Amino acid sequence: MNTTSKPNRLETIVSDIVSSVREVLIRHNVTFEEYRAGCNHLVKTGEAGELVMLADVFLNTTICEIEDTMIGGSTSTIEGPFYLEDAPFVDGSLKMHPDDSREPMIVRGSVTDTSGKPVPDAIVDVWHCDPNGLYGGFGIPNDMYRGKVRTNTAGQFELRSTIPVPYPLPQDGPTAKLLHRMGRHSWRPAHVHFKVKKAGYHTLVTQNYFEGGDYVLGSASDTGDCCDGVRPDLIKSDQREGVARVVENVFRIALEKGPVAAH
Ligand code: DHB
Ligand code: FE
Repeated sequence: MNTTSKPNRLETIVSDIVSSVREVLIRHNVTFEEYRAGCNHLVKTGEAGELVMLADVFLNTTICEIEDTMIGGSTSTIEGPFYLEDAPFVDGSLKMHPDDSREPMIVRGSVTDTSGKPVPDAIVDVWHCDPNGLYGGFGIPNDMYRGKVRTNTAGQFELRSTIPVPYPLPQDGPTAKLLHRMGRHSWRPAHVHFKVKKAGYHTLVTQNYFEGGDYVLGSASDTGDCCDGVRPDLIKSDQREGVARVVENVFRIALEKGPVAAH
Protein backbone atom coordinates (compact mmCIF):
# COMPACT_ATOMS: atom_id res chain seq x y z
CA MET A 1 0.00 0.00 0.00
CA ASN A 2 1.22 3.48 -0.85
CA THR A 3 1.13 5.26 2.50
CA THR A 4 2.17 8.62 1.06
CA SER A 5 -0.92 9.00 -1.20
CA LYS A 6 -3.80 11.20 -0.04
CA PRO A 7 -6.87 9.54 1.46
CA ASN A 8 -8.98 7.80 -1.19
CA ARG A 9 -12.43 9.45 -0.88
CA LEU A 10 -14.18 6.66 -2.77
CA GLU A 11 -12.63 4.01 -0.50
CA THR A 12 -13.59 6.00 2.61
CA ILE A 13 -17.22 6.56 1.58
CA VAL A 14 -17.92 3.06 0.22
CA SER A 15 -16.34 1.46 3.31
CA ASP A 16 -18.49 3.65 5.57
CA ILE A 17 -21.67 2.81 3.60
CA VAL A 18 -20.87 -0.90 3.89
CA SER A 19 -20.26 -0.59 7.65
CA SER A 20 -23.55 1.25 8.13
CA VAL A 21 -25.51 -1.32 6.11
CA ARG A 22 -23.82 -4.18 8.01
CA GLU A 23 -24.89 -2.63 11.32
CA VAL A 24 -28.52 -2.54 10.10
CA LEU A 25 -28.41 -6.16 8.87
CA ILE A 26 -27.04 -7.29 12.26
CA ARG A 27 -29.50 -5.16 14.27
CA HIS A 28 -32.47 -6.80 12.50
CA ASN A 29 -31.05 -10.35 12.08
CA VAL A 30 -31.69 -10.14 8.33
CA THR A 31 -31.92 -13.61 6.76
CA PHE A 32 -30.35 -14.83 3.52
CA GLU A 33 -33.85 -14.99 1.95
CA GLU A 34 -34.51 -11.35 2.88
CA TYR A 35 -31.07 -10.33 1.60
CA ARG A 36 -31.67 -12.11 -1.73
CA ALA A 37 -35.18 -10.58 -2.00
CA GLY A 38 -33.58 -7.16 -1.56
CA CYS A 39 -30.99 -7.90 -4.26
CA ASN A 40 -33.72 -9.12 -6.63
CA HIS A 41 -35.75 -5.99 -5.97
CA LEU A 42 -32.72 -3.89 -6.95
CA VAL A 43 -32.38 -5.91 -10.17
CA LYS A 44 -36.06 -5.26 -10.99
CA THR A 45 -35.63 -1.57 -10.18
CA GLY A 46 -32.70 -1.39 -12.60
CA GLU A 47 -34.62 -3.24 -15.31
CA ALA A 48 -37.48 -0.75 -14.93
CA GLY A 49 -35.03 2.18 -15.28
CA GLU A 50 -35.87 3.37 -11.75
CA LEU A 51 -32.55 3.04 -9.91
CA VAL A 52 -31.98 6.79 -9.89
CA MET A 53 -35.59 7.36 -8.81
CA LEU A 54 -35.13 4.89 -5.93
CA ALA A 55 -31.98 6.71 -4.79
CA ASP A 56 -33.66 10.11 -5.21
CA VAL A 57 -36.72 9.12 -3.17
CA PHE A 58 -34.62 8.24 -0.13
CA LEU A 59 -31.36 10.17 -0.44
CA ASN A 60 -31.36 13.18 -2.78
CA THR A 61 -32.80 15.45 -0.13
CA THR A 62 -29.79 14.77 2.11
CA ILE A 63 -27.40 15.80 -0.68
CA CYS A 64 -29.40 19.05 -1.00
CA GLU A 65 -29.04 19.72 2.73
CA ILE A 66 -25.28 19.16 2.50
CA GLU A 67 -25.01 21.50 -0.50
CA ASP A 68 -27.08 24.20 1.22
CA THR A 69 -24.66 24.10 4.15
CA MET A 70 -21.56 24.09 1.94
CA ILE A 71 -22.70 26.61 -0.69
CA GLY A 72 -25.31 28.94 0.85
CA GLY A 73 -27.94 30.87 -1.11
CA SER A 74 -31.65 29.97 -1.24
CA THR A 75 -32.89 26.61 0.00
CA SER A 76 -32.44 23.92 -2.62
CA THR A 77 -34.35 20.70 -3.08
CA ILE A 78 -34.41 17.66 -5.34
CA GLU A 79 -34.14 17.91 -9.13
CA GLY A 80 -36.20 14.77 -9.74
CA PRO A 81 -36.13 12.63 -12.88
CA PHE A 82 -37.94 14.98 -15.27
CA TYR A 83 -35.47 17.79 -15.92
CA LEU A 84 -34.58 18.27 -19.60
CA GLU A 85 -31.51 20.35 -20.45
CA ASP A 86 -32.82 21.70 -23.74
CA ALA A 87 -36.15 23.27 -22.75
CA PRO A 88 -37.08 26.20 -25.04
CA PHE A 89 -36.77 29.86 -24.07
CA VAL A 90 -40.34 31.11 -23.65
CA ASP A 91 -41.83 34.54 -24.00
CA GLY A 92 -44.25 35.11 -21.14
CA SER A 93 -45.88 31.68 -20.99
CA LEU A 94 -45.10 27.96 -20.89
CA LYS A 95 -46.65 25.89 -23.69
CA MET A 96 -49.84 24.30 -22.32
CA HIS A 97 -52.61 22.05 -23.60
CA PRO A 98 -55.13 24.24 -25.48
CA ASP A 99 -57.94 22.86 -23.30
CA ASP A 100 -56.06 23.24 -19.98
CA SER A 101 -58.68 24.69 -17.63
CA ARG A 102 -56.71 24.54 -14.40
CA GLU A 103 -56.16 27.68 -12.34
CA PRO A 104 -53.80 30.12 -14.06
CA MET A 105 -50.44 30.55 -12.32
CA ILE A 106 -48.06 33.49 -12.50
CA VAL A 107 -44.49 32.53 -11.63
CA ARG A 108 -42.41 35.60 -10.93
CA GLY A 109 -39.58 36.92 -8.86
CA SER A 110 -35.97 37.90 -8.99
CA VAL A 111 -32.50 36.45 -8.82
CA THR A 112 -29.97 38.08 -6.51
CA ASP A 113 -26.54 37.25 -5.17
CA THR A 114 -26.22 36.33 -1.49
CA SER A 115 -25.86 40.04 -0.56
CA GLY A 116 -29.19 40.84 -2.26
CA LYS A 117 -27.72 42.49 -5.37
CA PRO A 118 -29.82 41.73 -8.50
CA VAL A 119 -28.32 39.27 -10.99
CA PRO A 120 -29.37 40.20 -14.55
CA ASP A 121 -29.21 37.74 -17.44
CA ALA A 122 -29.54 34.65 -15.22
CA ILE A 123 -31.47 31.74 -16.76
CA VAL A 124 -34.49 30.56 -14.77
CA ASP A 125 -35.58 27.14 -16.02
CA VAL A 126 -39.10 26.19 -14.89
CA TRP A 127 -40.84 22.81 -15.23
CA HIS A 128 -43.91 21.17 -13.73
CA CYS A 129 -46.50 18.54 -14.60
CA ASP A 130 -49.64 19.03 -16.68
CA PRO A 131 -53.19 18.65 -15.25
CA ASN A 132 -52.86 14.86 -15.69
CA GLY A 133 -49.57 14.66 -13.75
CA LEU A 134 -47.43 14.21 -16.88
CA TYR A 135 -44.15 16.02 -17.60
CA GLY A 136 -43.04 17.32 -21.02
CA GLY A 137 -41.07 14.55 -22.75
CA PHE A 138 -42.63 11.88 -20.51
CA GLY A 139 -46.01 11.18 -22.10
CA ILE A 140 -46.59 14.63 -23.65
CA PRO A 141 -44.43 16.63 -26.12
CA ASN A 142 -41.00 17.70 -24.81
CA ASP A 143 -41.64 21.44 -24.87
CA MET A 144 -44.88 21.44 -22.86
CA TYR A 145 -45.02 22.78 -19.29
CA ARG A 146 -41.31 23.59 -19.32
CA GLY A 147 -39.29 26.59 -20.42
CA LYS A 148 -36.52 29.07 -19.69
CA VAL A 149 -36.63 32.82 -19.12
CA ARG A 150 -33.77 35.30 -18.64
CA THR A 151 -33.75 37.82 -15.80
CA ASN A 152 -33.93 41.47 -16.90
CA THR A 153 -31.52 44.24 -15.89
CA ALA A 154 -33.19 44.38 -12.44
CA GLY A 155 -32.77 40.61 -12.04
CA GLN A 156 -36.52 39.97 -12.47
CA PHE A 157 -38.40 37.29 -14.36
CA GLU A 158 -42.04 36.31 -14.96
CA LEU A 159 -43.98 33.64 -16.82
CA ARG A 160 -47.46 32.16 -16.85
CA SER A 161 -48.74 28.61 -16.72
CA THR A 162 -51.40 26.66 -14.81
CA ILE A 163 -50.96 25.21 -11.34
CA PRO A 164 -49.67 21.62 -11.26
CA VAL A 165 -51.36 18.69 -9.52
CA PRO A 166 -49.98 16.23 -6.93
CA TYR A 167 -47.90 13.61 -8.72
CA PRO A 168 -47.76 9.84 -8.05
CA LEU A 169 -44.57 7.86 -8.74
CA PRO A 170 -45.30 5.29 -11.49
CA GLN A 171 -47.77 3.10 -9.61
CA ASP A 172 -46.80 -0.20 -11.24
CA GLY A 173 -43.05 0.46 -10.89
CA PRO A 174 -40.74 -1.16 -8.31
CA THR A 175 -40.11 2.10 -6.39
CA ALA A 176 -43.81 2.72 -5.68
CA LYS A 177 -44.29 -1.00 -4.93
CA LEU A 178 -41.50 -0.89 -2.33
CA LEU A 179 -43.05 2.18 -0.65
CA HIS A 180 -46.47 0.49 -0.60
CA ARG A 181 -45.04 -2.69 0.96
CA MET A 182 -43.41 -0.43 3.58
CA GLY A 183 -46.91 0.91 4.34
CA ARG A 184 -46.15 4.29 2.77
CA HIS A 185 -47.87 6.17 -0.03
CA SER A 186 -46.00 7.18 -3.20
CA TRP A 187 -47.26 10.70 -3.93
CA ARG A 188 -45.49 14.03 -4.23
CA PRO A 189 -47.36 17.27 -3.44
CA ALA A 190 -48.12 19.61 -6.36
CA HIS A 191 -44.85 21.38 -7.13
CA VAL A 192 -43.04 23.68 -9.54
CA HIS A 193 -39.38 22.96 -10.31
CA PHE A 194 -36.72 25.63 -10.82
CA LYS A 195 -33.11 25.56 -11.99
CA VAL A 196 -31.37 28.94 -11.81
CA LYS A 197 -28.11 29.31 -13.75
CA LYS A 198 -25.63 32.12 -14.16
CA ALA A 199 -21.96 31.83 -15.16
CA GLY A 200 -19.71 32.29 -12.12
CA TYR A 201 -22.45 31.23 -9.65
CA HIS A 202 -23.51 27.89 -8.21
CA THR A 203 -26.60 26.56 -9.98
CA LEU A 204 -29.63 26.58 -7.69
CA VAL A 205 -32.08 23.67 -8.04
CA THR A 206 -35.27 24.04 -6.04
CA GLN A 207 -39.06 23.67 -6.00
CA ASN A 208 -42.16 25.45 -4.68
CA TYR A 209 -45.15 23.83 -3.00
CA PHE A 210 -48.67 25.17 -2.30
CA GLU A 211 -49.81 25.84 1.26
CA GLY A 212 -52.77 23.66 2.21
CA GLY A 213 -52.14 21.18 -0.63
CA ASP A 214 -52.16 17.40 -0.25
CA TYR A 215 -48.87 15.77 0.84
CA VAL A 216 -47.28 19.13 1.78
CA LEU A 217 -47.23 18.63 5.57
CA GLY A 218 -46.02 15.59 7.49
CA SER A 219 -43.19 13.17 6.87
CA ALA A 220 -42.62 10.66 4.08
CA SER A 221 -43.79 7.89 6.43
CA ASP A 222 -47.20 9.50 7.03
CA THR A 223 -49.01 12.30 5.17
CA GLY A 224 -46.02 14.12 3.64
CA ASP A 225 -44.04 14.11 0.39
CA CYS A 226 -42.85 10.58 -0.49
CA CYS A 227 -39.50 12.13 -1.55
CA ASP A 228 -39.13 14.35 1.55
CA GLY A 229 -38.40 17.36 -0.66
CA VAL A 230 -40.59 19.94 1.10
CA ARG A 231 -38.93 22.61 3.26
CA PRO A 232 -40.99 25.28 5.09
CA ASP A 233 -39.61 28.23 3.10
CA LEU A 234 -40.48 26.52 -0.20
CA ILE A 235 -44.24 26.45 0.63
CA LYS A 236 -46.09 29.34 -1.04
CA SER A 237 -49.13 30.94 0.59
CA ASP A 238 -52.32 31.57 -1.38
CA GLN A 239 -51.38 34.84 -3.09
CA ARG A 240 -53.62 35.87 -5.99
CA GLU A 241 -53.83 38.39 -8.77
CA GLY A 242 -57.35 38.26 -10.20
CA VAL A 243 -58.01 34.57 -10.85
CA ALA A 244 -54.33 33.67 -11.06
CA ARG A 245 -52.30 32.13 -8.27
CA VAL A 246 -49.04 34.05 -7.86
CA VAL A 247 -45.88 32.13 -7.03
CA GLU A 248 -43.14 34.58 -6.11
CA ASN A 249 -39.49 33.93 -5.26
CA VAL A 250 -36.27 35.73 -4.57
CA PHE A 251 -33.65 33.22 -5.62
CA ARG A 252 -30.32 34.00 -3.92
CA ILE A 253 -27.43 32.35 -5.72
CA ALA A 254 -23.93 32.02 -4.32
CA LEU A 255 -20.74 32.90 -6.17
CA GLU A 256 -18.56 30.00 -7.23
CA LYS A 257 -15.38 30.16 -5.22
CA GLY A 258 -12.57 31.07 -7.58
CA PRO A 259 -9.23 29.28 -7.65
CA VAL A 260 -7.45 29.57 -4.31
CA ALA A 261 -4.77 32.28 -4.60
CA ALA A 262 -1.19 31.00 -4.57
CA HIS A 263 0.83 32.17 -1.58
C1 DHB B 1 -39.09 12.60 -7.98
C2 DHB B 1 -39.02 13.98 -8.01
C3 DHB B 1 -39.98 14.71 -8.66
O1 DHB B 1 -39.95 16.05 -8.73
C4 DHB B 1 -41.05 14.09 -9.27
O2 DHB B 1 -41.95 14.86 -9.90
C5 DHB B 1 -41.12 12.72 -9.24
C6 DHB B 1 -40.15 11.97 -8.59
C7 DHB B 1 -38.04 11.83 -7.33
O3 DHB B 1 -37.09 12.43 -6.79
O4 DHB B 1 -38.11 10.59 -7.36
FE1 FE C 1 -41.40 16.83 -10.09
